[in-house]
Amino acid sequence: MKRLFLSILLAVPMIALAGNVKSPNGNIELKFSVDNNGRPVYEMTYKGREVIKPSFLGLELAKDKHASKGMKETDLMDGFTIAKEETKEFDETWQPVWGETKDIRNHYVEHVAVLQQQTSQREIAIRFRVYDDGIGFRYEFPQQQELNYFLIKEEHTEFAMAGDHTAWWLPGDYDTQEQETQQTKLSEIRGRMKEAVNWGNSSVAVFSETGVQTALQMKSDDGLYINIHEAACQDYATMHLELVDAETKALTTQLGGGSNAYTPNPKPSPWPLPKAFTFVSHLTPDATGLKGCMQTPCETPWRTVTVSDDARDMLSSNLILNLNEPCKIEDTSWIHPTKYCGVWWEMIVGRGSWHYTNDYPSIKLDQIDWTKVKPNGTHKANNENVKRYIDFAAKNGLDEVLVEGWNVGWEDWANMWKRDVFDFVTPYPDFDIKMLNDYAHSKGVKILMHHETSSSSQNYERHIKEAFKLMNKYGYDAVKTGYVGDIIPRGDHHYSQSMNNHYLYVIKEAAKHHIMVNSHEATRPTGLCRTWPNLVGGESARGTEYEAFGGSRPDHTCILPFTRLQGGPMDYTPGIFVTKLSEWSNNTSWARITIAGSLALYLTMYSPLQMAADLPENYEKFDDAFQFIRDVACDWDDSKYLEAEPADYITVARKAKGTDNWFVGGKCDENGHTAVVKLDFLDKGRQYDCTIYADAKDAHYETNPQAYTITKKVVKAGQTLKIQEAPGGGFAISLIAK
Ligand code: NOJ
Ligand code: CA
Repeated sequence: MKRLFLSILLAVPMIALAGNVKSPNGNIELKFSVDNNGRPVYEMTYKGREVIKPSFLGLELAKDKHASKGMKETDLMDGFTIAKEETKEFDETWQPVWGETKDIRNHYVEHVAVLQQQTSQREIAIRFRVYDDGIGFRYEFPQQQELNYFLIKEEHTEFAMAGDHTAWWLPGDYDTQEQETQQTKLSEIRGRMKEAVNWGNSSVAVFSETGVQTALQMKSDDGLYINIHEAACQDYATMHLELVDAETKALTTQLGGGSNAYTPNPKPSPWPLPKAFTFVSHLTPDATGLKGCMQTPCETPWRTVTVSDDARDMLSSNLILNLNEPCKIEDTSWIHPTKYCGVWWEMIVGRGSWHYTNDYPSIKLDQIDWTKVKPNGTHKANNENVKRYIDFAAKNGLDEVLVEGWNVGWEDWANMWKRDVFDFVTPYPDFDIKMLNDYAHSKGVKILMHHETSSSSQNYERHIKEAFKLMNKYGYDAVKTGYVGDIIPRGDHHYSQSMNNHYLYVIKEAAKHHIMVNSHEATRPTGLCRTWPNLVGGESARGTEYEAFGGSRPDHTCILPFTRLQGGPMDYTPGIFVTKLSEWSNNTSWARITIAGSLALYLTMYSPLQMAADLPENYEKFDDAFQFIRDVACDWDDSKYLEAEPADYITVARKAKGTDNWFVGGKCDENGHTAVVKLDFLDKGRQYDCTIYADAKDAHYETNPQAYTITKKVVKAGQTLKIQEAPGGGFAISLIAK
């Protein structure tokens, strides 16, 4: 089915000074010019207030062995003159295959500056799109005599902040985002860095004492919310930001870390250091240390700055999706929102294993007769257990069951830098792939495939066609992939250009086989799900699994929508009801959330793919609260963010796709929150059956997480609900139209 696009293209000549561009409603103003040295420079204001102070743009190129083969080495940093400028307005409304709203308006004023570099005879363009809630810009490299192939040493895009803002940041890292978010002033980042790093992660490569990841959420002292990220990162390395602070002597100071830390180029950058509180782009290198191998015509991803004086606008912004290309999949009928459970949490917690035998210190896939191997008795992807989950899914209206540990190779899968770690097609002897899929299908349920790659990306590429063929044969339509550990080819990084190409290759190959993808530990998303809507989820942050590894702070889920979720949905795997894991396992960790708070996450952590992560037997103990998980939709016609403050609280109302029913969720931090829910989004004059799942008066994420109340009443538009959220808690409401 081809998506219908209601597009209106307005090529209106703008009456404005060259390089001075206003957004459609005038709130945002962008200035662009080149300075006396021919360096491109831009600045940005919001309602007349400084957001980005004058900041330089440019790319430093690597001088490599190909130079002798006619490759030019001149950096694309200065010596530019503006050859041509063009400004036009664009306005379209498009419909996502799945999403938070039925329609998305893409309305901007575009400004393109064509720049010529006399000395090299090269031409590049910088394209800005100015929206009412932010800007996007990118470098474009047309094919030309003097610019066919080039290597990027570093991109030097600056974002000069107007003050010492509060920032919610993760340590800049080439391999992981599974860190706790830090909340500090910009000036405090350096001092906090070492303790901020999760050194225990299976792949860590931090690079600088002031390096941070995007999406980076900030707040100025006078109440401006500013978010820096990127859109449409393809065939390019993931961008980090390195802060120039009062102590910065030269950019890229080595911090070290993990088995795979980066050794920076010892030569300092020849470009003058920007002023304090300036972020400078820092790309992820590949195994050679290079940051981009480019062939024209090509372009960088969009660099984005979203801004508002209302935090809710950060969450409802569609700027990142809009900067991505329209859907490239013709027939999208096989892509569907999915609620699932899985043979998963019991292994994460340590009560069961992915692997089948304990008798082999190491495994060579082609040398083992699995029928002769002694089972360990803890392998959870076994016929009986999988059937139990299928029955649970069927009984509760869940669409799919994830089964991890179904395929051979888990005996020595992690952190061995082992190339031939899995073949993705051979089940363990106690997993009858045909019988289980037939059984699931007979009950209207599908099994969700799992492909842990152990970061051995070439191994996965070698097997992927056979692996997807197997999925097609047995009727799987979704795969969870995983990239635990350091990347093979060795020395490469999770967020490099080559690995970003790998993830996209997997998504495209999956699309050919009508398979939806949910990628764990892959690169953080940049809105590519607009173009490839079979990318239905991803991890790329600290997910619920960390509740079994020591826990995450209660405010974690009040930050992620401002940061990780900016680029696309997250497979956060919510729904933990028995939060003290020692109640059913030997794990002493505990989830910092109440049951009502867990229900809220199905609304506040938007995703078309939602897991009910706890065990069936744990849900059976709280069946009346589980009713909300049975009822809640995961695809929406409309969404209204009612309340939001980073790291404090988020309240959102969403209208279920193709219905008149609404669901509301509110999640708060460790301090609790009184939510005020004005029901003015409901249809006037209509009555709704309202069920409120709230924290009990004495609920608390640590001492009393399972105390909740369920209240039913009839409500109508115009009424206001006041709901008390406990520390670390939240609430969920269903509103079913009568
Ligand atoms: C890490 C993933 O995030 C987790 O969900 C998965 O169970 C393990 N890797 C094993 O693949
Ligand atoms: Ca993970």
